[in-house]
Amino acid sequence: MRPVLLSLALAATLATPLAAVAKDAPVALSVDAAHPGVKIDRHIFGQFAEHLGHGIYEGIWVGKDSSIPNTRGIRNDVVAALKDLHVPDVRWPGGCFADEYNWRRGIGPDRKPAMNSNWGGVIEPNSFGTDEFMDFAQQIGTEAYVSVNVGSGTPQEAAEWVEYMTSSTDDALGKERAQNGHAAPYKVAILGLGNEAWGCGGSMTPEFYVDEMKRYAHFVHNYNPAQPMMRVAVGPSDGDTPYTEAVMKAWKDRNYAWDLEGLSLHSYTVPGGWPPHAKATGFSADEYAQSLKVTIGMDDLIRKHEAIMNTYDPDKKVALVVDEWGAWLTPAPGSNPGFLVQQNSQRDAVLAALNLNIFARHADRVRMANIAQMINVLQAMILTDGPKMVLTPTYHVFHMYVPFQDATAVPVSFDAGTYTAGGVTLPRVDAIAARGKDGKLYLALTNIDPTRPVDIDATVAGLKARSATGETLTSPKIDSVNSFDAPTTVAPKPFTAKANGGKLILTLPPESVTVVSLD
Ligand code: AHR
Repeated sequence: MRPVLLSLALAATLATPLAAVAKDAPVALSVDAAHPGVKIDRHIFGQFAEHLGHGIYEGIWVGKDSSIPNTRGIRNDVVAALKDLHVPDVRWPGGCFADEYNWRRGIGPDRKPAMNSNWGGVIEPNSFGTDEFMDFAQQIGTEAYVSVNVGSGTPQEAAEWVEYMTSSTDDALGKERAQNGHAAPYKVAILGLGNEAWGCGGSMTPEFYVDEMKRYAHFVHNYNPAQPMMRVAVGPSDGDTPYTEAVMKAWKDRNYAWDLEGLSLHSYTVPGGWPPHAKATGFSADEYAQSLKVTIGMDDLIRKHEAIMNTYDPDKKVALVVDEWGAWLTPAPGSNPGFLVQQNSQRDAVLAALNLNIFARHADRVRMANIAQMINVLQAMILTDGPKMVLTPTYHVFHMYVPFQDATAVPVSFDAGTYTAGGVTLPRVDAIAARGKDGKLYLALTNIDPTRPVDIDATVAGLKARSATGETLTSPKIDSVNSFDAPTTVAPKPFTAKANGGKLILTLPPESVTVVSLD
């Protein structure tokens, strides 16, 4: 960025410091609508709901007898909010929880409580099981992404679970499902073949996992012809490549008996590394920059795994599925540390937008992603407290990005400039563009810099853009949050810009996310 020069004499007469009055030249941004790219799969806006803390119980499930308004035990306020996000899929029941899940304890009239050995040392009542999850999926209008237990289960248990969900009532398990209230087969759109097999899912070597995974990929059948089922294998953690190599090599050498459609990548923004110790609020401008530097590192991670995948799968048949991502921060004071409760600030909104932009730029390979997690856990969309519910800044970003679901990417070029804090230099702005399913041209713009607004001088090749209309999400403070007492501190505001003298200048507030359509 180039500051507008002031004469020394003029500068000397100013009472305020030069930096405070220097005006940056606009960032020239050009959209090439004539050269559309690939589809931005709606599944990159997927979510993750695990039996962890209050993610399911209280967040989704309150029970049929609750005074909180609900439909068959599932809270209505949460369903209404999620419907507005057009959530493409929900990954369930975990996570590490899935690695020990016994699906039979969670069906029928006689539920069998179990210890939740991974999260918080509490009893899992199993009141929310397969039929309740499918009801929830149907209520919010999403696809089911079910992770089977490869860690401690057997291929037969997993096969019977998917048989229970997808077979007709001629089958004994299909009949059992009908007796439990659902005669029609469910649709299982995505099947996770294990979770973090390199860690909580069994600490398996890549080779051992590959042998196990092939058995699940072969024996777990989808019996519902109305719904093709994508299979996702466990893949890498962050930048570790052995799982990427082993799974993709096995896939290249596959035989008639098994196949895969996705490889999972898990990578969280954990500034300073594990255990998570970055603050959810009360962080400094330097800490803000350090966090977002980690987030931006997602791009390198994806490139690294893509390069390996390309050697085994140049036609990009296997999707890279980033099915756990988001900020993992220090637990909220006073909360059970095993419940992974954290507040969600405007910083996390920017973090979400940057991640979504990275996924969109890799849309040819990254065709699915699931933020961790949906409600009350980690970087959540929604926080609840008894009957109260609040939408987080991250929720608002997902809502603003709805037009990018299944949109066609359009090349956009700009000079991002830089901003520096605490020895960390980051791009100052980020942007993606796409042609929405409604035919409109959309721009998503992020001003990462928490101190300076930025002017964007937007041009569209072959079109004189006359106006930009949409919403902007910004906040009074670097760490502003929405609380139950003040639920709209961070809320999208209408945004319009009109061309002036042939120029369309969009002024982005500091630390903001803006989505507009161009006319
Ligand atoms: O999202 C929380 C946990 O993080 C998941 O259960 C696990 O897969 C990952 O380590």
